Amino acid sequence: MSPTIDDEVLRPDRVQDPHPYFRLMREQDPVHWNEKYRAWFIHRYDDVTEALRENRFSSARIQPALDRLNSEQREERQPTYDVLMDWLVFRDPPDHTRLRKLVSRAFTPRAVESWRVRATQVVDETLHELADRSSIDLITEFAYPIPAVVIAEIMGVPPNDRDIFKEWSDAVMVLVFGARGLEDRRLKAQHGLMELAAYLGDLVRFHREHPEENIIGNLIAAQEGDDRLSDQEIVANLVLFLFGGHETTTNLIGNGVNALLGNPEQLDKYRLNPAGLTKTMVEEVLRYDGPSKMEVRTISDDLSLRGKTLQKGDMAYLVQHAANRDPEHFHNPDQFNIEREPNNHIGFGFGIHFCLGAALARLEGSIALERLLTCYPQLSASQEEPHWVPTMLSRGMESFPVSLGEARV
Ligand code: HEM
Repeated sequence: MSPTIDDEVLRPDRVQDPHPYFRLMREQDPVHWNEKYRAWFIHRYDDVTEALRENRFSSARIQPALDRLNSEQREERQPTYDVLMDWLVFRDPPDHTRLRKLVSRAFTPRAVESWRVRATQVVDETLHELADRSSIDLITEFAYPIPAVVIAEIMGVPPNDRDIFKEWSDAVMVLVFGARGLEDRRLKAQHGLMELAAYLGDLVRFHREHPEENIIGNLIAAQEGDDRLSDQEIVANLVLFLFGGHETTTNLIGNGVNALLGNPEQLDKYRLNPAGLTKTMVEEVLRYDGPSKMEVRTISDDLSLRGKTLQKGDMAYLVQHAANRDPEHFHNPDQFNIEREPNNHIGFGFGIHFCLGAALARLEGSIALERLLTCYPQLSASQEEPHWVPTMLSRGMESFPVSLGEARV
């Protein structure tokens, strides 16, 4: 008899390991109406990629969310929504097409390559600070600070402003992920976002007067015909880079170490040839247990999928974790295989919203994992279980205690 399905996506055992549940759903009801979340959950690779190509799966969620608020709430939250409204991830074509063309100028291959040197320095400095330690929390002491410092560096935030910048970026995380029901925290976070936006506005004005080739300089210079980004659009999308690139990259590093320690034969193989295997290893982490669990869309016009009718206004979760282990596309999908090739995972999304920061994330993840594992040949998990964060969209640990063992100089 096959196990029965239910709607408890965040049941504690499924937060620890979501994959058996997603497998069951993919096999038994791949397009599932979840009554608890009042949304469709779509699990098969072909359906998820098709949805990400289909313009009836809309990304424009901010205006509808604003429309649901009462007038008092709307007035209070309008400034926050004004920032979110200009995020290209929340726009559909043609607005998205215009913004994407301009914003993508910040991530030229030359710019990304120039970040390699800085990212390596940041990783090495972080490792250096751990030199006297025998055990650490891998998340808070290694995986978390790296993307935060790298993004501050490549935005040209002066070193003296780093701490306050970090406080504000934490505020953005609270606002987008964790403030439901906590009114005080939300207000504080909203305040933090406004301060961050004002700070970035000053930074943009400074860079207009003192042009430099960095991420802000590239956004200022971006031009399509007569069209340019306004300061408000630049600031909003800088906040998106901060938000979109921070927790995700932390989780790439954390989930990567977890997958390797949980598969010792793969770790041994990796240790024999880190230079040759880092690239495919990082891609496999993104597939096997990537930082993005699912993406959200709103149905903009009725459509039918596998015999179900998705109606205008319905919400849909496109479950990347389920798609990335679909046996129709991946051989032995539940096996972590650091040499897997080809590996057409959708850990960075797919289609027009494909992650703009993928090259930067790959760079940071590769450097951090390679340096850490080379520097600490005896790295091992502590007895304490890691604590996974119970969120719908992302997959990552709050803490991950590890023993470092002796450092190889
Ligand atoms: C491992 C790390 C990362 C993962 C797993 C990740 C994942 C994703 C995913 C799944 C999307 C698509 C969202 C959707 O379709 O709704 C996306 C979009 C985006 N990401 Fe990333 N991301 C990562 C790192 C970064 C970094 C480092 C940056 C920038 C500094 C960044 C900036 C963006 C932006 C701007 C978009 C919006 C693109 C658009 O809407 O056209 N991401 N990311």
